[in-house]
Amino acid sequence: MGGGLYRGYLGFRRRVIMTKKLYIETVGCQMNVLDSELVVASLRREGYELTDNKTDADTILFNTCSVRQHAEDKIYSALGRLKHAKRDHPGKVIGVLGCMAQKDQRLVFQRAPYVDLVVGPGQLHQVPRLVEEARAGAEQRLEVSLGRKEGARDAIERSHESFDPLRDPAMRPTPYQAYVRIMIGCDKFCTYCIVPSVRGPEQSRPPREILAEARQLASEGCKEIILLGQTVNSYHYRAGERTTRLSDLLGELQVVEGLERIRFITNYPKDMTDDLLAAVRDLPKSTRYLHVPAQSGSDRILERMKRGYTVSEYREMLGRVRDWIPEVAVTSDFIVGFCGETDEDFSQTCQLARQSRFKNSYIFKYSQRPGTKGAERFPDDVPEAVKKERNNHLLALQNAISEEDNQPFLGRVVEVLVEGPSKTARKRQPATESGHVDGPLQLTGRTLCDRIVVFTGNRRQVGQILPVTIYDANALTLFGTVVTQHVGPELFTLSTGNLSTGNL
Ligand code: 5AD
Ligand code: SF4
Repeated sequence: MGGGLYRGYLGFRRRVIMTKKLYIETVGCQMNVLDSELVVASLRREGYELTDNKTDADTILFNTCSVRQHAEDKIYSALGRLKHAKRDHPGKVIGVLGCMAQKDQRLVFQRAPYVDLVVGPGQLHQVPRLVEEARAGAEQRLEVSLGRKEGARDAIERSHESFDPLRDPAMRPTPYQAYVRIMIGCDKFCTYCIVPSVRGPEQSRPPREILAEARQLASEGCKEIILLGQTVNSYHYRAGERTTRLSDLLGELQVVEGLERIRFITNYPKDMTDDLLAAVRDLPKSTRYLHVPAQSGSDRILERMKRGYTVSEYREMLGRVRDWIPEVAVTSDFIVGFCGETDEDFSQTCQLARQSRFKNSYIFKYSQRPGTKGAERFPDDVPEAVKKERNNHLLALQNAISEEDNQPFLGRVVEVLVEGPSKTARKRQPATESGHVDGPLQLTGRTLCDRIVVFTGNRRQVGQILPVTIYDANALTLFGTVVTQHVGPELFTLSTGNLSTGNL
């Protein structure tokens, strides 16, 4: 059952593609979400349609993550559950893609012998061909990149191919927002982290490719792009004498007509340079939001993590960020229970979180990753119960700060880029046959400083930037009412007087 049957049609030979069903499950970061979007797009071109039912699917793909053990366990149990499906339907193609494919390689076949394909993040462009070959009865295939010690740097770099085909708008989850990869890999080698091994050396994409992608996205109606990189602010592309940094790239992207907002994640604290802060402050399309993971508030632990900064350097960086961009929202990641973390280390982390007043923090229990320096050098000696308790404690502390930080928004008007129906609305209101929902709809969107706003509106407002008055707030969400006057927010302020607004 190949992809291309040829039939006569009105005198022309037209390619008629048989519909096949694809089930894909994605775990992990935004990079993986983008990779899955691109893989789905490439398979759709081959006649695949998405299904959310594994039983119906001709091809089942898992796009995997290796950052924590839990993410891997989830995939191996999902694979385990497919054993009988494959026995009963040997024509079903099962593929494991992404970071765990690169990390575990043949181990995936050993643990799940019925898997057809194991494809690393640097080989995703091969997926349509590999799937077709598997359908035609090919042997198991392993396609991965070279390891970090398996060759010269340029050979390793070449083995990690960035997969960024120009996209079909119909294949994006929302037409108004899109991820754009600006770099792949990571060279920081934090001792807990598997990413530099599985995603390979840091490589920045040429600015002209990024700009072409942004222009195409904007011409298709995209309002916001989110630039992706493991250490996005380390972006630098050299061409002859000229180096393009992230601040330059942000500047160049400003002129893309139709784009309204540009976000970028994730930042590395040491590379938070003044030129970038000035760009975020001065460029109108840059969101006022920076995700700059601190990971720990203890110098001893930061040193063990090989993060490359001390707590006071992190504080200095944060001070600079807030001086340069007063309305900025900063978020962080923390790992609790890293090797040797004492109560005193953890209390220093809590202190840093308390004083830094992050908009929110993503908190993770340390998960030892074989193949990292952390696993080699230090025993994973903090008991699971202690990790859990520290996780809950830090989360409660952060939630209290987040809720407090949202209170000043009460009564204010914020500009919201409407993303779509809220989670509750998606559950409650089934779409009509045409895919549209009639009547009022609970919508969700984001402010320029990345705060989530929920309000009642209608489907036509999706993709617009609307002024919304905030009347309630909890730690993660602002609740508001859309300002219905057909005037801009500045005029609205003048006409009401008592409501303040800004580009928040
Ligand atoms: N264990 C727990 N958390 C981890 N992270 C990365 N590696 C690990 C690990 N081994 C966290 C870091 C990073 C985020 C994406 O995941 O906080 O910023
Ligand atoms: Fe992992 Fe550190 Fe690179 Fe982030 S900067 S991807 S935590 S090695």
